[in-house]
Amino acid sequence: MSDKKYDIGLMGLAVMGQNLVLNMVDHGFNVAVFNRTTSKVDDFLASPAGKAAGDRLTGAHSLAELVSKLERPRKIMLMIQSKDAVPAPEIALYPNSAAVDAVIEELLPLLEPGDIIIDGGNTQFKDTERRTKFLAPRGIRYIGTGVSGGEEGARRGPSMMPGGDPEAWPFVKPIFQAISAKVGPNSDIPCAEWVGDRGAGHYVKMVHNGIEYGDMQLICEAYWMLKQAAGFTNEELYETFSQWNQGELNSYLIEITRDIFTVKDPETKQYLVDLILDTAGAKGTGKWMSQLALDLGVPSTLVTEAVYARCISAMKNQRLAASEVLSGPALTRVADRKAFADQVRQALYASKICSYAQGFVQIQAAAKEYDWSLNYGQIAMLWRGGCIIRAVFLERIKEAFDQNPNLENLLLAPYFKKEVEAAQTAWRNVAKTAIELGIPTPGFLTALTYFDSYRSPVLPANLLQAQRDYFGAHTYRRVNKPEEGPFHTDWINVRTVK
Ligand code: 6PG
Repeated sequence: MSDKKYDIGLMGLAVMGQNLVLNMVDHGFNVAVFNRTTSKVDDFLASPAGKAAGDRLTGAHSLAELVSKLERPRKIMLMIQSKDAVPAPEIALYPNSAAVDAVIEELLPLLEPGDIIIDGGNTQFKDTERRTKFLAPRGIRYIGTGVSGGEEGARRGPSMMPGGDPEAWPFVKPIFQAISAKVGPNSDIPCAEWVGDRGAGHYVKMVHNGIEYGDMQLICEAYWMLKQAAGFTNEELYETFSQWNQGELNSYLIEITRDIFTVKDPETKQYLVDLILDTAGAKGTGKWMSQLALDLGVPSTLVTEAVYARCISAMKNQRLAASEVLSGPALTRVADRKAFADQVRQALYASKICSYAQGFVQIQAAAKEYDWSLNYGQIAMLWRGGCIIRAVFLERIKEAFDQNPNLENLLLAPYFKKEVEAAQTAWRNVAKTAIELGIPTPGFLTALTYFDSYRSPVLPANLLQAQRDYFGAHTYRRVNKPEEGPFHTDWINVRTVK
């Protein structure tokens, strides 16, 4: 038996795991792999890609064997799959939580102080907080890392968002930075940097996914407006998205959307997108972000509306029945299709800016709550390449945080203020058209509402406070006596109408 020691061990040979391994091997690392269903190990080694890896790759049939093959300090990466996506109403909460805990329990007696466990799944950050704290006194250094980019990203260069025990990072950094996507003028800035303590990396990955939900929802609304209100064909949608991809919306999601409009079903020769049932699935990261936004008291309305949009899409039978009962305005077509398409582009862009603003506000609030020290410009750069939300636009976000590291809201950065103001008229026109024609656009509308609320010096919460005080003596503060109070009024006895 060879006593060669391997740089890293990876458990979990689903497609993401396999592709990460091949990516590591491509970059000169020696990798040992293990999977619970051990036939997967043998199949992987025997596959053409496995064979091509030669002696850089080895298999193990137990965790103990995997551990025995590793260089010290041992680095073991877990790529334990979450459950398959389910229709939105049944979103799983902690998809891979129990499985990861079970593996950690099993690994503990096999490891030595200084060894490193890395969880590369879409894990809820509280699990990562808990595991980092649990393992530290046992001498085991834990990393919870976001890995984004899907199968292709894992193989060719993902975006990686590691957090956990910072002592582990120097050992893992060379591997992560070698395999990650690279950006910058010389394509040499790795999209893999230390995010922060304990669960910070998984939190940032969750917000990435929530922003992904928002982006996808906004793109779907743009598509729907163009199709419903302006009668765009798939060929025209392809052209429109191609043009959009040349400008400020240039991004992976716009690019794949453009391409989707070209694909025909070989069987029926119809466009495939028109044959896909309109009920969305979800794995739960968007729901987590919405739930955690509520916990923090920050309005992340874009992701929340995006989750709700998936939920209502999944109520297909009810929608079919309701459509027979409830009527709306007649669907007329806009007069100037070209001008309208440009307005939709601007509505999409302005809404997207609000969505990213909300995402960063939530990360900032979480950093305060969970005591992480984060670099927001760097987070934008981690998303610049490799991941699903990769976009040119993220460079502007990086610049905004470089100019002002304490920026409270992206909307206040000079660049984004200018962009949103320039798009404002078009954005409102699209919202008006959607409302007039009865086309659901929850993303566009909630973004506009957020923008209007955020820029309002006064909101009707004075009346709300009066109501709370009226029925529940919840007290209020006064604008004319800011230093005094709280005040309570006996509303029933002082009201003038009895
Ligand atoms: C990524 C993606 C990925 C996510 C899928 C599915 O960054 O590569 O975010 O991690 O699992 O996009 O998410 P939903 O099933 O919830 O849409």
